[in-house]
Amino acid sequence: MVELLDPFGRKLEYLRVSVVDSCNFRCFYCLPGNVCKPRGVRGQMGRKLIVRAVLGAAKSGIRKVRLTGGEPLIRKDIVELVREIAEIPGIADLSLTTNGSMLAELAMPLAMAGLKRVNISLDSLDCKNYNYITRGGELQNTLDGIDAAVACGLTPVKINMVVMKGINDHEVANFARLTMDRNLHVRFIEYMPMMNQEKSWREHYLASAEIMTLCEDIGPLTPLPEEDLHGPARNFFLAGAAGRLGFITPVSQHFCADCNRLRLTSDGKLKPCLFTAEEIDLLPALQARENLIPLYQAAAKQKLENSDSSPAAKGSACGPLGMMEIGG
Ligand code: 5AD
Ligand code: SF4
Repeated sequence: MVELLDPFGRKLEYLRVSVVDSCNFRCFYCLPGNVCKPRGVRGQMGRKLIVRAVLGAAKSGIRKVRLTGGEPLIRKDIVELVREIAEIPGIADLSLTTNGSMLAELAMPLAMAGLKRVNISLDSLDCKNYNYITRGGELQNTLDGIDAAVACGLTPVKINMVVMKGINDHEVANFARLTMDRNLHVRFIEYMPMMNQEKSWREHYLASAEIMTLCEDIGPLTPLPEEDLHGPARNFFLAGAAGRLGFITPVSQHFCADCNRLRLTSDGKLKPCLFTAEEIDLLPALQARENLIPLYQAAAKQKLENSDSSPAAKGSACGPLGMMEIGG
């Protein structure tokens, strides 16, 4: 079987594909003050080009694909796109990250098209707070989306909560309680400083250790054996719970050592790392139907050993891009 190796011996098997750079929400941590300009002007890839890019990735050694955005479900052709990617030989796992607002109607067609799992962003269980954090989102739509995902077998359904001090940290225990009766996988993510967010980040960042303490108010956390050694979450469960809790620490504890991923932006740029400005333009080769393997190999070669050499570690805590562009 073909393998895509980086210079540090990491086997790159995972491609995150941003399929659209816009979103129907404007989340607090994603687009504060609307500083993030969509890349629309530079053009989004059509379905054919995205499928061709994933085909090239599969031939290079990629086995897992996650579709992200922006909000992937705002693409009119998302079901067809999922179907075509699911049919690519070698892609064993196809998942999607969504804000869930349109999932109630789309969960079934997506599951039928070959989608395996979803991660749903949910940062509040309170209508008002949800509306504030997402700048306009309706909580009920996303709750309905979660129910639909469970009902359609897009499991395990993972709920991603970005925890922000003074904004939603008082809801952490309620999120943890969600796992008591339902087999949901609730993951608490540290707020990362993205472009121009340093001030807000300093005010609202909460480290994972503190988030864990908030969960322990309900009961002791028992660690789960790591099934997915390359996954970024450290997993636990509360006594008697049907689901599990995960803690993702992009800030307090980088997980570069196990990083097995590459990213593709919605305008066709391959990015080796979240924290570097490096990118390889796939578009000309995609349009000319050329062999993409050398480009994937070149991206693998550019992966950093760790992010100490990244802008995040060099004083400016902010990465070079907005999350909208690189896909979560
Ligand atoms: N900090 C942490 N996570 C973020 N995401 C987007 N922006 C940030 C940020 N600044 C992640 C969240 C969200 C997904 C779409 O991207 O997990 O649920
Ligand atoms: Fe949209 Fe997700 Fe960004 Fe929120 S975090 S604005 S849902 S892309």
